[in-house]
Amino acid sequence: MIILGIETSCDETSIALLEASYKNKVFLIKPLNSVISSQIKIHAPYGGVVPMLAAREHAKNLKTVFQETVFPIFPSFASLKQNLDLIAVTRGPGLIPSLLVGVNFSKALAWAWQKPLLGVNHLEGHLFSFVLPEKNKKIQISNADFQKIFPAIGLIVSGGNTLLVYIKERGKYQVIGNTRDDAAGECFDKGARILGLSYPGGPAIAAEAEKYKIKNTKYKIQKLPRPMLDTKNYDFSFSGLKTALLYAWQKLDFKTRKKLLPYFAFELEEAITDVLVKKTLQAASDYKVKSLILGGGVVANQRLREKIQEQLRVQKMTLNFYYPMLEYSTDNAMMIALAGFLNYLKSTPKEREKLKWQNVFADANLTI
Ligand code: KG4
Repeated sequence: MIILGIETSCDETSIALLEASYKNKVFLIKPLNSVISSQIKIHAPYGGVVPMLAAREHAKNLKTVFQETVFPIFPSFASLKQNLDLIAVTRGPGLIPSLLVGVNFSKALAWAWQKPLLGVNHLEGHLFSFVLPEKNKKIQISNADFQKIFPAIGLIVSGGNTLLVYIKERGKYQVIGNTRDDAAGECFDKGARILGLSYPGGPAIAAEAEKYKIKNTKYKIQKLPRPMLDTKNYDFSFSGLKTALLYAWQKLDFKTRKKLLPYFAFELEEAITDVLVKKTLQAASDYKVKSLILGGGVVANQRLREKIQEQLRVQKMTLNFYYPMLEYSTDNAMMIALAGFLNYLKSTPKEREKLKWQNVFADANLTI
């Protein structure tokens, strides 16, 4: 099958083409091409994503991103139309103005070309992004392989979500933990803004924290809190951490701030990752799972991955640990095409008849 993926839930406009099949209990997955157009420069002056600006940029960029994805594989729209089997579009969760642009674009295509259209949950896309190989590489994964992976605990950490999900088997999810306020990525972004660093905050904080580790400054003055670290649940809260950083930072004069910037970046990264790691491993142990799966933009954080690996070793937990390649950790349409394909396979002939443009709707608050 050839699947066209479309993703516009936040500030990345992305289109992907995936070739996938399922035969003799084996999935064959081959990413053909994908383009991600990031709006970072547009939103950077505001320190976060401005929903109406994001929607306007999606509308402006979709046509170009679509052509750049498709034409290297199919020389004309006619040949794409002939070969295309399924369109998969992110229908939520996300920013509603952004979602509507992608969903309406996909509806127009599905209507004009009479193709099945499947609305994908963005979070499910993140949970399966670890399966994707690099462009033009084909991987095989059997049902037996999936059985070795599940049950699993999934941690989805991005600018908009911080979720712990118990995945009993492929397609069966239970949210066991959520953030009560800000998402982990949002804490990186807002923390960076307080410290005068660039947007998106995650990479900026990580780079600044790296300087602290190298210099090992002796000005280690104030620890930041680790919110909800010891609570007997899997929920998170990051807004208090952001406020603690703000108050600590406001007390300092200009000269001291300059000296302590790497320390505060380091401390913020440590505080966020300490809580994520502890809750995730606790969930893995309580639910007696076989694997840990990470997804979402914050997975790009090397310290987070290192700490999980370190704690798995220290706590002698023999779990499979999966996370996506960098290009599939932030928002991308390839993971949407993959989740669309997996859902298509699961659907009954009756359900397939309903995969029409009239039946797909954006839902900003969709949960998994
Ligand atoms: O999944 P994503 O691309 O978009 C949504 O939020 O939907 O994630 C973006 C988030 C931003 O908050 C960004 O600061 C964070 O991922 N991020 C990182 C790193 N790279 C991106 N956070 C920590 N460390 C990183 N290296």
